[in-house]
Parts: sequence; C-alpha cells; structure tokens
Amino acid sequence: MSKRFYVTTAIDYANGAPHLGHAYEKVITDVIARAHRALGENVFYLTGLDEHGQKVQQAALAEGKSPQDYCDGLAVSWRDFTAKLGLSNDDFVRTSEPRHKEVVQTILSKLHAEGQFYKTTYSGFYSTSAETFLTEKDRLPDGSFDASWGKVIELQEDNYYFKLRAHQDWIIQYIESNPGFIAPDYRRNEVLGFLKNEVLEDLCITRPAERLQWGIPVPFDQGFVTWVWFDALVNYISVPFAHGDPVIRQALGFGGASSFAAWPADLHVIGKDILKFHAVYWPIMLKAMGLPLPRQVLVHGFWQKEGQRLSKSTGNVIDPLAVIDEWGLDAFRYYLVRELDIGPDGNWTDAGFRARYQSELANGLGNLVNRSLSMIQRYRAGRVPRGTSQLARETAETWDRAVAAYRACALQEAVQQCGALVTRANQYIDQTSPFKIAKDPARAGDLDHILVTLAEVCRALGVLLWPVMPGASEKLQRQLGLESVNTNLSQPPLPLPAGHALGEIFPLFPRKDL
Ligand code: MSP
Repeated sequence: MSKRFYVTTAIDYANGAPHLGHAYEKVITDVIARAHRALGENVFYLTGLDEHGQKVQQAALAEGKSPQDYCDGLAVSWRDFTAKLGLSNDDFVRTSEPRHKEVVQTILSKLHAEGQFYKTTYSGFYSTSAETFLTEKDRLPDGSFDASWGKVIELQEDNYYFKLRAHQDWIIQYIESNPGFIAPDYRRNEVLGFLKNEVLEDLCITRPAERLQWGIPVPFDQGFVTWVWFDALVNYISVPFAHGDPVIRQALGFGGASSFAAWPADLHVIGKDILKFHAVYWPIMLKAMGLPLPRQVLVHGFWQKEGQRLSKSTGNVIDPLAVIDEWGLDAFRYYLVRELDIGPDGNWTDAGFRARYQSELANGLGNLVNRSLSMIQRYRAGRVPRGTSQLARETAETWDRAVAAYRACALQEAVQQCGALVTRANQYIDQTSPFKIAKDPARAGDLDHILVTLAEVCRALGVLLWPVMPGASEKLQRQLGLESVNTNLSQPPLPLPAGHALGEIFPLFPRKDL
C-alpha cells in the first residue's frame, strides 16, 4: 500500500467572506496537488472550514440562528468558492462534523489519561476579539493594550493546560536536524529564534462552557469546550482517520484501518501569521499522541492591495470571484502564481494584473498558440507536417527545469520557465518569418520544420501549464487535436505524428481593450 502525497491548506474561519489571501493559499496548494498527480502520485488534497469559537457564536446569535445553522449557511458559499477556484481537493472538512469532533475528543481523552494536561486557575487580561489572554509583553509603553486587541477585560478562570515545557528541547533539536521541516529558511530561523529565546508556556486548551458553548465538549469535564486551535489543527488527522488511515488509527488505539495511507502529511501550506501553531504546537501535539510529524510546513506571505493591508473596513479588498468573472479563472490563477513566489509578501495592483494578462497571456502564450496553429491550418490544411523541431533542445530544457521546479514547490519558477519558452518561440517566428517562406514553394521543407517546431512547443507548454491553468491547458490541447488531455509530467510528450489533424482554433486569451 503506497502512501499518498498528502497536502493540506489552513482551514479558513467560516465567518467572513473569502478573500484574495484565502484564494491564493488554496490555489497554490491546488497547483502543488495537481503537479504531484501529474507526476504519477496518488494525492490527497484536503481543505476546509474552521467553524468553532466565540466569534461564530456571537455572529450566529446576532442573526438569531443556532451556530450550526449559521455555519451550514456559510459552508455553502465556501464550498462554492473552492469550485470557482477550480480546486481539485479530495475532501472538504468542516470542524463541526461528527467525524472530526469524535477524533478531537478521542485525542483529548487519551492525552488526559496519560497525564499530559492539568487544570489550574489563571487570571489576567483577555482580548475578546482575539479570544486570547494577553501578557505583559502585549502592553504598549503607556500600559494600555493596542486597539487592535478590541475590548480587553480582566478575567479569572479555570482551564486545562497542555504541558509544553517538557517539549522545548526536542522540538529545537528536531527543527535543527530537519532543515526542510519549515520552509522557506527565514521562517525556520524565526521559529528557532523564538524557541531558543523564550520559555514555552503551557498551552491553555479549553474554554469554560459558560462563556463559550460553540466548541467541542471536553470529554472528561462537562464544564469546558475545546480551545478552537486545538480543535482546528486536528483536522489534518481527523479526516484521514475517518478514511481509515492505518498510522493514525493505530496511534489512537483503533482498528478498522483501510488501504488509505496518508499520514504523515507531506505538506501543510499555511500563511506566515499561523506559523507558531503549525511549527511548534502542532508537532508537540503529534509527538504527544505518538504520531510522526509532517514532512514540511510551507509558509507563504501576505498579499496587500496597492501597497495597503487588505481590509474590509477600508474597502481595500479584491473580490476573487469578480476578477474570475471578468478575466477568467486561468488568468486569475496564473497571476497569483506568477506574481508571488511562495514566501515573501505580495502586492496586488489592478494595473499589474492587466499588464501581465495583456503581455504574458494575450500577446505571449495566447498569440504564440494562435499564430502557430493558424499557420498549420492555413499552409498545411490543419495537418502537422513531417519535420523536426528546431527548438527541441530549448523545449527539453524548459521541460526539465519546470518539472524540477514543480517538484520543489517553486511554482513561480515553473511558470517563468514556461514564459521564457513562449518568448523564445515568438522570437523564433519573427526570426524565421514563416509568412514569407510560405510564399516560396521551393522552401516548403523549411516551412514544415518551422510548423513542427511550433506545434511541439505548444504541445509541451500545454502539458507543463496544466497544474496552474487546467482550463487553458485543456483548450490548448483540444486545439492541437488531442483526443484526451495529457497531464503527464513524468515524461515529455512524444512528437505528434506527421499528418495529425488539429482541432478548431480559437483565441486562448482574448486581447482586452485596456
Ligand atoms: N482558521 C485559522 C487556521 C486554522 S488551520 C488549522 C485561520 N483562518 S483564516 O481564515 O484567518 O486564514 C486562513 C489562511 O489564509 C491562513 O493561512 C492565513 O495566513 C491566510 N491568509 C489570510 N489573509 C491573508 C493575506 N492577506 N494574504 C495571504 N494569505 C492570508 O487562520
């Protein structure tokens, strides 16, 4: 039974509209999932919704709904969002599902029985909007708390704590001896800096039920529900558990394993703001449960728009669905991957989006495909002639580099490699002037080679770009007259046989009047 390539996204807070940041993370993860499928792996791509917590409880109350009804409503639009983004996720988790809650409770019972938790009273300042206790370090120089914490109240309460201190040494050692565990490097250094300079405080993993009802009940004490982050992180194992993952079922003391082997996850894709939860708390939780750690936490940056934070209150947002409606899904996915490498922060500008669309998609790839196939149509009655590609070496190099980049999750690099081949091929058309050669019957053989060259470049690009732009790739391949779409990245496509008939030709990325 071979293990699946298991890749996850963060699960989004259900309350709040899906925005560019959510779209970005889900799309890059989708590109990674598709690339691995295209490389022949059995992939399990999981995304979903984080539904519990005070904010949802309050919002539901304000609408006169039960939190469950309220979330059921939100989940419809979030699922719709995944479809609009063209995601190929294999499952969609909601933390209010029984299959998830059962696993959270199983884990809580197990760790409690093993003495990993203790109950104690804590009093301090609590941010109601961030749902967290604040420490002295959170105070401003004048002693107050920043307005971003919202209403801060003094609170004294009992809770259960997870003993983290005992884990500090091994986790440092683990991160140091597994350099690929947190990527990029600067995020790894950030975690190590934190772990080496601060004492790991024990983690409060419950909330009193009198204050918060919309949470997973703590199985060994009715007075409490589970802290939302403990609950949310478990989604990464509750879903494979439900599918019968043998490693997880065994660690939690269950039979009923199936052939569904996913754990450990290969990749958790997350944003930089939730790094500590994934690179410190989550590995510690797993270790305490006796489960192997994920292979990599891949941390992406934050998008801004026109140099400002995305913010609903100032209206500085991008509605991904509106962009998709206007420009098409492929163009949207392309821009996200092409503009921002996984790691640094990015800046969306409307002008930048239009410029990339026009120069790289309409005038670049789109024009190349259209010119190439139209010439085959016009000069060779739509049939690929006999000939040899004169850009065979460049095409093979692009193939190897782009595939290596996909393997390394260097998605921007993969797309840039394809872009360089597009530029090269458009140059080649300008240099070889097939339009002129076509007028000279004595040079029919030269024209054949040029047309074959262009057909082969388009063919390779069609396969290489599938993970990023599945729609455009499929259209391109249909225009090339291929009966089934080739998505196989594990080997370059064989040359089209002489006489192969093209399909119907139409613009891939229509030029827009800007
Ligand atoms: N529910 C938690 C995650 C739990 S994972 C077990 C959460 N949700 S969130 O909706 O606030 O964020 C979901 C993901 O979107 C996070 O990875 C976050 O970093 C990412 N982004 C939120 N805003 C973003 C940008 N402006 N830009 C890029 N990604 C951003 O955190």
